[in-house]
Amino acid sequence: MTYELSTPIIKTLISSLRDSNTDALRFRHNVKEITKLLLNEALKEESLSTKTVETWNGSEQHEVIDDESFVVVTVLRAGMPMLEAVMETLPNIMGGFLAMKRDETTHKSKLYYDRLPDCSGKKVILVDVMLATGGSLSDGIDIIKTKNPLDIVCLNIIGSPEGIDVIKNRYSDVNIYISQIDQKLNENKFIIPGLGDAGDREYNTPE
Ligand code: PRP
Repeated sequence: MTYELSTPIIKTLISSLRDSNTDALRFRHNVKEITKLLLNEALKEESLSTKTVETWNGSEQHEVIDDESFVVVTVLRAGMPMLEAVMETLPNIMGGFLAMKRDETTHKSKLYYDRLPDCSGKKVILVDVMLATGGSLSDGIDIIKTKNPLDIVCLNIIGSPEGIDVIKNRYSDVNIYISQIDQKLNENKFIIPGLGDAGDREYNTPE
């Protein structure tokens, strides 16, 4: 299933991402803010465990997410602030990395580095800012699936209808939580209206 979270707060943060005057610091900040909202929605049905908390009023049992049962995997570069955001909220979660670069002629992504922890029996949260053709996300899902996860959920900031269809058709068992599905891909497979190259916007490299 695909869940689009176009709430007023999220729309406002995305409009700021689209603004080419938004600098890299603010861009990464907004990506992190949106990621936390997506994470909250994606885990809203999550069952809780109880732990002993030493409170001002003595020792009490309180509810917590078992963050050690999750792995967050990011697609470099653009997904890096999203991994940071998830790890700020769930500090004991394990982090994994997939480095991919989309070839701008063939529009296909190429994996050049991976560093995944043991995903066996874990709930994997795969994060990437853009879901354009869906090639990078598909490759990421395929790699994670070889590691026997319990399930996979994707968090994305901006997507195209074409990319969403690719993931939906290939993976009926993977849910996508996305903050904005834009109009379309152009002939160069860029999302329209989109927000430019997210990796370049985040890290001050020329587009
Ligand atoms: C962008 C983006 C995704 C990918 C999406 O990465 O961050 O990983 O493209 O495109 P797709 O759905 O067509 O595969 P890019 O290759 O620009 O690398 P970067 O993050 O280093 O800028």
